Amino acid sequence: MSQLRESIHGQWSSRWIFVLAATGSAVGLGNIWKFPYITGENGGGAFVLIYLLCIAVIGIPIMMAEIMLGRRGRRSPINTMRHLAAEEGRSPLWQYLGWAGVLAGVLILSYYSVIAGWSLAYVARAVSGVFEGATADAVGLVFSDLVSDPERLLAWHTIFMVMTMVVVARGVKGGLEKAVSYLMPALFVLLIILVGYAMSTDHFVDGLSFLFTPDFSKLTTDGVLIAMGHAFFTLSLGMGAIMVYGSYLPEHTSIAKTTFMVAGADTLVALLAGMAIFPIVFANGLEPASGPGLVFQTLPIAFGQMPGGTFFASLFFVLLVFAAWSSAISLIEPLVAWLVENKNMTRIMASVWAGMGTWLLGIGTVLSFNVLSGKEYQLFDKTFFDLLDYLTANIMLPLGGLLIAVFAVWQMRKQSSMDELEMSNTTGYQLWRFLLQYITPIAVVLVFLRAIGVI
Ligand code: PFF
Repeated sequence: MSQLRESIHGQWSSRWIFVLAATGSAVGLGNIWKFPYITGENGGGAFVLIYLLCIAVIGIPIMMAEIMLGRRGRRSPINTMRHLAAEEGRSPLWQYLGWAGVLAGVLILSYYSVIAGWSLAYVARAVSGVFEGATADAVGLVFSDLVSDPERLLAWHTIFMVMTMVVVARGVKGGLEKAVSYLMPALFVLLIILVGYAMSTDHFVDGLSFLFTPDFSKLTTDGVLIAMGHAFFTLSLGMGAIMVYGSYLPEHTSIAKTTFMVAGADTLVALLAGMAIFPIVFANGLEPASGPGLVFQTLPIAFGQMPGGTFFASLFFVLLVFAAWSSAISLIEPLVAWLVENKNMTRIMASVWAGMGTWLLGIGTVLSFNVLSGKEYQLFDKTFFDLLDYLTANIMLPLGGLLIAVFAVWQMRKQSSMDELEMSNTTGYQLWRFLLQYITPIAVVLVFLRAIGVI
């Protein structure tokens, strides 16, 4: 069967642009908003250790597999899976893996956009100087005022969704990558400044030891599932986002090297965010397990106390918005690419339709923090937002990743993967194969079984 040498959607102009785009997808709210609060809720060190382990033995090999499948298929994930299954003489049912990914992307983006909206709102708050010298209580109040107002949340969610769709409509390979190439390093520098500030509090060591001293008595089975799910979420794996980016990757670029760069940068950003946030939590007597508001209730305290705080706070939330923006476009790209390929839509129409559907679903999350936050509206003790987050990050992504692994090493011929990875039968290749053949599937299945109480 003939191979497309290039995707109909075009390709990245260089490997470096791909690394930036994939890092842009990986580094986002997951690192700065989600990682700290789920670490706080799950007791710290032991949770972090499991998360790091999952990145190393599950995340990295799956990221390589996703990029490889994308580049070989050169189409949207749905059509890539269909094409590759045919090429390898496998069941056409594999295309449903692409569909599951599209669904996961839409579900995630629906709430991701609402949280990105909080970040936008915080840009406005920071610029107006409300955090200057603010106490922990005052900062907490700014947050609760925001999330208790559904109209405001809806407005910010709408603005963020429109921003996302504008970039997607113009093509992912357009302007944003250039912006990201400056803004990501800037975010990194700002996080280092924040860690510097955290060092000046007398609780830096408490923060570090919370993050890095494992105490397994604090880790529940659900915590293990959440840590694994987060490894997928933070690396944008298991739903085709990295696959679709891989489909725009030029030939002859080392998939292994690029994967290490992306995963390394992503992990570093998350750890820095944790190191900035927890000392502030302890220095101000806040609760590490206070939930999704954690970053919004801690970092502004630090900004409020440092010289030039208003400027740094504004800059930080602007950068957070950019980080979220470059992740959001990758969540919807698999659907948009499919609409263009199969429904003959222009990118603009495809973005409008995909964006409207996702926006509508996001209203459920908007209401989860106010009108529908009460116990009577919860299922299994979870709001609509909690359920969506749990279902996607902890179930859909690991399941998607597991199937990607199965396809890459059990369904594809060995020669095909060696060709596409441009690796010969070296130790590196064999290790990759071994991890995906045995370790990934067994680990994912064991964690699932344990989470549902079977073992
Ligand atoms: N990796 C992004 C983050 O950490 O914020 C979120 C994300 C993007 C998840 C794309 C999944 C995805 F496909």
